[in-house]
Amino acid sequence: MVNLEHRARSFFLQCRASVQSSHLCRYPSTHSFTRRALSVSAPLREDLSGQKPYYVTSPIFYVNAAPHAGHLYTLVLTDVLKRWNKLLGNHKATLLTGTDEHGMKIQKAAEKANVDAQTLCDQNSQQFKSLCQVANIDYDRFIRTTDSDHKAAVDHFWRELNHAGYIYESKHEGWYSVSDETFYPESQIRHVLDPSTGKTKYVSAETGKDVEWTMETNYHFKLSQFQDRLLQHYREHPDAIVPQQRMNYIMKEIQSGLKDLSISRPSWRLNWGIRVPGDDSQTVYVWLDALLNYITMAGYPLKDTKSPDSIWPPDCQVIGKDIIRFHTIYWPAFLMALNLPLPKRFLTHAHWTMNSEKMSKSTGNVVNPFYAIERFGVDPIRFYMVHEGGIVDDASYDNQYIAENYNTILRNNMGNLLSRVFYSQRFGVREAVQLFANDTGFKVDMAYNEPPEWARNKHASLMSGIIAHRELLATTADQARAAMDIPNPRVAVQGIAQVISLTNKFFHNSIPWKYCQSKDAKLRRLAQMTVYLSAESVRIVSILLQPFMPGQMQKALDMMGVLESNRTFQYARLGADLDYGTEAFAPTPETPRAPELFPKLVSSF
Ligand code: MSP
Repeated sequence: MVNLEHRARSFFLQCRASVQSSHLCRYPSTHSFTRRALSVSAPLREDLSGQKPYYVTSPIFYVNAAPHAGHLYTLVLTDVLKRWNKLLGNHKATLLTGTDEHGMKIQKAAEKANVDAQTLCDQNSQQFKSLCQVANIDYDRFIRTTDSDHKAAVDHFWRELNHAGYIYESKHEGWYSVSDETFYPESQIRHVLDPSTGKTKYVSAETGKDVEWTMETNYHFKLSQFQDRLLQHYREHPDAIVPQQRMNYIMKEIQSGLKDLSISRPSWRLNWGIRVPGDDSQTVYVWLDALLNYITMAGYPLKDTKSPDSIWPPDCQVIGKDIIRFHTIYWPAFLMALNLPLPKRFLTHAHWTMNSEKMSKSTGNVVNPFYAIERFGVDPIRFYMVHEGGIVDDASYDNQYIAENYNTILRNNMGNLLSRVFYSQRFGVREAVQLFANDTGFKVDMAYNEPPEWARNKHASLMSGIIAHRELLATTADQARAAMDIPNPRVAVQGIAQVISLTNKFFHNSIPWKYCQSKDAKLRRLAQMTVYLSAESVRIVSILLQPFMPGQMQKALDMMGVLESNRTFQYARLGADLDYGTEAFAPTPETPRAPELFPKLVSSF
């Protein structure tokens, strides 16, 4: 890697030099064609070692029910972001996930199941942990709000808020939803008929969840004082909430006025939680408790969250659209109150639906993620979720479509392409890579922007295809990176899938298996160029897909003979790796076919 930039530079210089001295070109050329060396739009090496560790968080999951596919989606997005940043060179990229274990919802679930709350939490928290394991979620800590360091962090944070004068006690009455763990204003309440009982009841207009009228004395946080500071913060950081629609929504919410927030419940009502420091008769509101998990991870209050080696603040917090108010209004206000640095970005995503309704335990339309992974494999499910899952709009979970997505993109396009290119009896990838590494004429031929003289007329369409495909590959990594910078992993992965599909067409239309044995030297050269570019496509795409499908892409890169050290983002560029193509499997009469990267699904539709 040390010599990579140098190597690339000298390669481009060599190309330029060769283009200027026509004797180096193998085939006659005229000056009417523009020729220039392959272009790169970003430096090959980037030093991220001095950078703050990239810190990404998932929401922590309620333990009142088992995990479902919606939870898996959130987890996969965070894992992809962590792995992507590692790919870029941020080796200390850190991912936090865990479980949200206090509150009325858990207390009631435990009462209903007739077990003590801690037992329920232990059992169900373990299920989320197991999900992380089977889904290959590379977390750095699995936090539980019942962990002692977290309780200490909440205790300290409360005292600091109080000390800073942001907490006061007052009588509170309003509609509380246990399911959503929040109070709703009167304007957001609907009176509806419950079809199952024939009785009327009050529900939240937004979530449809039951609400109950409560009257109690509790502690409040002076949220109303943060309206202007929040607006200013978001005006100064217009990308802090993605996608844009949700930023617009939150700006409107803040502009419409913020009321002080109730941040405790009487302990006789809510027993399962952290006691308010200095007042045992009150329990800390579960959302204040839960949100602080993100800063517990940074070692708060023992470690200085402002020191350069701190992971604080989060670079990206991934959340579903249903919990955006808690995260983008309450949470920054709590941090502002203590002058702590704010999260840099919130990636808010849409929901998975089943039968047109949000997948949720209370609706009963959930998909068991363990079964889904068992059925399709972990990487295909991860890929499907990111490729099809909604960032802006909800997505409908559909087993038939998972199979189609697998067969079309992964099996037919990606897997098939890999074996056709790397496992041909007629041409060798290594030979093509070596040509590129050592033959200046080949490099020159690869650098044309328009078909040169020798590749005109009957060869023109082949050459045009090569030029177009090379241009596509020249921008692939940067385009994926631009999407991941937003971040929009869906756009990134769809773009990469598009490159796979275009490479298939390119390879298919250029018939290198036939032309590589042609008597016509020009056709043979065009076939070599096609093989080289196709191999480069599969290599680059596999590097870029590692964060999405870590297991399968490791296999793919092994199959291509790509060195472990050559699998970082810097290598996802045309011509960046000259060492691969030594087949990890050589065809023999006994094993004439490559092992399948994406085998046939056991049960199809
Ligand atoms: N405990 C809170 C989060 C506290 S974070 C300080 C919570 N838990 S949850 O278990 O209900 O949801 C966890 C995450 O899963 C949320 O981001 C939520 O949006 C997401 N999903 C729950 N159902 C979902 C779908 N049907 N589809 C996509 N994501 C879904 O909220």
